[in-house]
Amino acid sequence: MCGIIGCIGLRDVVPDLVEGLRRLEYRGYDSAGIAVLDGDEIGRRRVKGKVRDLEEDLRRHPLAGGCGIAHTRWATHGRPSEDNAHPHVDCSGTIALVHNGIVENYWSLKERLRGEGHVFRTETDTEVIVHLVEKYFRGSLEGAVRAAVAELEGAFAVACISSRDPGKIVVAKNGPPAVVGLGSGETFISSDITPLLSHTRRVSYMDDGEIAVLTPAGVRFETFAGAPVEKAVETLTWEPAMIEKRGFEHFMAKEIFEQADVVRDTLKSRVSLESGRVFLDDTGIAPAVFREVDRVVFIACGTSYHAGLVGKYLLETLAHVPVDVEYASELRSRDFAMDRRTLVLGISQSGETADTLAALRAAGEKARAVLAVTNNLNSSMARAADGILDLHAGPEIGVAATKTFVGQMAALALFALGFAQAREALGAGESLALVQELQRVPHKMDRVLGRAGDIERAARRYLACEHYLFLGRWINFPIALEGALKLKEISYTHAEGYAGGEMKHGPIALIDEKMTTLAIVPRDRVYEKMLSNIAEVQARSGRILAVAFEDDAKARAVAEEVFPIPEVHQLFSPFLTVLPLQLFAYYSAAAKGLDVDQPRNLAKSVTVE
Ligand code: F6R
Repeated sequence: MCGIIGCIGLRDVVPDLVEGLRRLEYRGYDSAGIAVLDGDEIGRRRVKGKVRDLEEDLRRHPLAGGCGIAHTRWATHGRPSEDNAHPHVDCSGTIALVHNGIVENYWSLKERLRGEGHVFRTETDTEVIVHLVEKYFRGSLEGAVRAAVAELEGAFAVACISSRDPGKIVVAKNGPPAVVGLGSGETFISSDITPLLSHTRRVSYMDDGEIAVLTPAGVRFETFAGAPVEKAVETLTWEPAMIEKRGFEHFMAKEIFEQADVVRDTLKSRVSLESGRVFLDDTGIAPAVFREVDRVVFIACGTSYHAGLVGKYLLETLAHVPVDVEYASELRSRDFAMDRRTLVLGISQSGETADTLAALRAAGEKARAVLAVTNNLNSSMARAADGILDLHAGPEIGVAATKTFVGQMAALALFALGFAQAREALGAGESLALVQELQRVPHKMDRVLGRAGDIERAARRYLACEHYLFLGRWINFPIALEGALKLKEISYTHAEGYAGGEMKHGPIALIDEKMTTLAIVPRDRVYEKMLSNIAEVQARSGRILAVAFEDDAKARAVAEEVFPIPEVHQLFSPFLTVLPLQLFAYYSAAAKGLDVDQPRNLAKSVTVE
């Protein structure tokens, strides 16, 4: 939540900061602001709204300077407003600070600082930090930040500048991500690597409990206690072109159309098409662990939770092992039994979701091993886990997860196969047939994506429809949940996902000519049952759309519209059935003229609990 960026160099850094904010905007977009050292003074611009509103403000009231910090906000404490937008300044206006995270003890700190004469001008928790830095400032900004963070409880990544100690940016991290980019004659701090790609490939990831002092010449790290820290410089592998739209109107569209390649990349070098063996060595978890556990627990939120449900059905079918899939936020409040015979997988594209991270850390103390299934190898979850299952999805900029969902399903399919093989639950012939079928999936996905035009036309025809019921059974029940989530989060249309068998236990009361049912009916072990569900909807005058196999005459006979998919092994149908649903949501939102990539009230990386 919230994106921070800072840059110090030998030229005007304002354009780079604004460009950086644009890259980070997916993290939060209700207000934005920038502060730079301009001679002896701090110049500051803030707006309620998006980065483009900040740019407009900067056109009217330009700023320039060689050292600056900027922020794009997702409000937690204090409503979105110009006053609450970061950067915040101290009483004297000589220190400016941006913050990602939450200060849990801000109220008591605020009372105390007020009592000491500090004047507060915002409703934010962040403002206490800048007043603490002011209170402890004795000529050295890093010294003041060191003293200030010692008083903070909660999560924070802060970047701070001062006209009284110019020539540096001081950063402190405890929780939210912060990565330092080392350019030539310029140094950056950022919430993620995307703003850095166009400037440098050389980065250092900050760890919790560290302070970084940035100058144009480089960076120096120390602990909160002031002890020097040596850090490795890593080289980024993502290309700048990966974070461009490449001719698509929205990132989400580009990312939907990249999905077949995501599956190809996830499978690459992890399967043998001759023997059917799956190699999970790069996870860092020894095969013996797979044999020693008697239970698997998936922990996740949102779309990643839906991927976990698909993973559960895969693992149950292939490895016959009990699997629980848990919402991270719920798990944390429960007395959840877990022991050394439990293997835990935390699923999170960002690797930073606060609830999943906390649940994963807690699980790490009890379970046999913890594996992070993530698209971010340097994330907090990747660091907290014993091993990593990498998604190979590349950067996902659209706030609604699409290609990372498919990447998660691909990674979990591999995991289920590898896990089953390690436990000798799968015969060699069966393994080979499944791996070969999985290898054919991307080609079939391309075929479905090739019919996007039909789905766009259907989405336009159904634009006036206000209520949707998504129905699926067994391995497509999670896809019904995911289809409904996509439609509501980007097109703001009411949609509910249900297990087909549950319909008669309540939701059937909603069915009338105003309710559209989107039924997922590949020819699998629950096909006939799904057809019965469709008949029940039809008998009550409900409208029906269906995702079904290309040659399915029965589905065509009952549905107003069929989104066809090629025939596929029943365990892998989610890779195909989810595509028309993502496209339907995308085209509905785009036709309504909505902000597809940055839907209201959401943020891509949910680093608050
Ligand atoms: C929905 C969506 C969210 C995320 C959820 C977890 O499109 O993107 O529901 O799936 O916030 O995020 P990660 O996977 O980063 O933990």
